[in-house]
Amino acid sequence: METFELITNRRSIRRYSSQPIREEVVNKILQAGMSGPSCVNARDYAFVVVQDKQKLLQMFEACGSPAAPLKDATLAILVCGDLNRSFSMAKDYWIIDASIAAQNMSLAAYDLGVGNVWLGVWPQDERVQNLIDLFDLPANIIPHSILSMGYPEDDRDMHMLSEERKREKFEQDRIHREKW
Ligand SMILES: Cc1cc2nc3c(=O)[nH]c(=O)nc-3n(C[C@H](O)[C@H](O)[C@H](O)COP(=O)(O)O)c2cc1C
Repeated sequence: METFELITNRRSIRRYSSQPIREEVVNKILQAGMSGPSCVNARDYAFVVVQDKQKLLQMFEACGSPAAPLKDATLAILVCGDLNRSFSMAKDYWIIDASIAAQNMSLAAYDLGVGNVWLGVWPQDERVQNLIDLFDLPANIIPHSILSMGYPEDDRDMHMLSEERKREKFEQDRIHREKW
């Protein structure tokens, strides 16, 4: 898919088939995650790749009902920030760097035919703490988001975004030129 097509067609996919995702596909998705920009090139992110069904369910339980897509996901990537690597003058940039990594992985997965949805974790303290406990994360590693993934239950879901919907998303009143 062309980059522009990929970006404008992407949509969240929350229902998946049981088809597993091959290791080479997982590695491509992770490579995309580590290909984005980061503040002072700190690359202050880390990923926990989960394919074990039991663990996926525990991640769902850690985050509650908004994370329901994990119940039939075949893969989840917990995107984390690594405070030991973040820019010392402004550590909060880790949040932006982790977001870029997550979005790049979401787009790459979509391009590879893997449906996915971003599940919010940070800054919801309870979810953050539950995931720290579940994965026994070191003190410098902060859970940021989860990408719940799987091949779509219905392949048509990947291409459901109509030209009309794409046009609707381009909202002129969000745009200001030269002045507010
Ligand atoms: C920070 C963030 C948190 C999100 N959290 C959830 C979530 O907990 N559960 C969920 O089903 N979708 C979640 N989403 C996905 C959004 O609901 C989705 O992107 C939005 O409705 C637009 O739909 P689209 O992705 O199909 O364009 C989240 C997205 C972002 C960026």
